[in-house]
Amino acid sequence: MNKKLQHLESGDRIEFPVIHDQRGNLSFVEGGEHIPFDIKRAYYLYDVPGGAERGGHAHYELEQVVIAMSGSFDLIIDDGHDKKRIHLNRSNYGIYIKDMVWREMDNFSSGSVCMVLASNKYSAKDYIRDYEQFLLEAKKRV
Ligand code: TYD
Repeated sequence: MNKKLQHLESGDRIEFPVIHDQRGNLSFVEGGEHIPFDIKRAYYLYDVPGGAERGGHAHYELEQVVIAMSGSFDLIIDDGHDKKRIHLNRSNYGIYIKDMVWREMDNFSSGSVCMVLASNKYSAKDYIRDYEQFLLEAKKRV
């Protein structure tokens, strides 16, 4: 794995390569090189209506990288101690989120697309959807 990836913390920005071209820019993402885990799943949010909020949960194990493929939105991350709001509006940046981090997304621009690269396949059991439970579980990890 690329050494730069070994000390990433939640909320850190990962910059992907950009191949500039008059015909349009091209970016690429390689597991192990730009993403600190083997990518097992990609999912994306689109056609998000104005004012909608997504997320509102944490994961026991899942790690993710969130990318604004098009348009913009805000990502709010909370580890039980600190809360941060990050505005995403570039296709060549990703925000890393570790396990045990409460995340919310809002402020989606019209036509925006949010792509998420994930370290595991979908598992309902890996979700914590109750904020109080999340705080209790987060304390156990300290
Ligand atoms: P959820 O993760 O709660 O969405 P968000 O965090 O973006 O608000 O997922 C919404 C629904 O989609 C839920 O019923 C689970 C389902 N889902 C899958 O089946 N596979 C997936 O990879 C994801 C992310 C969600």
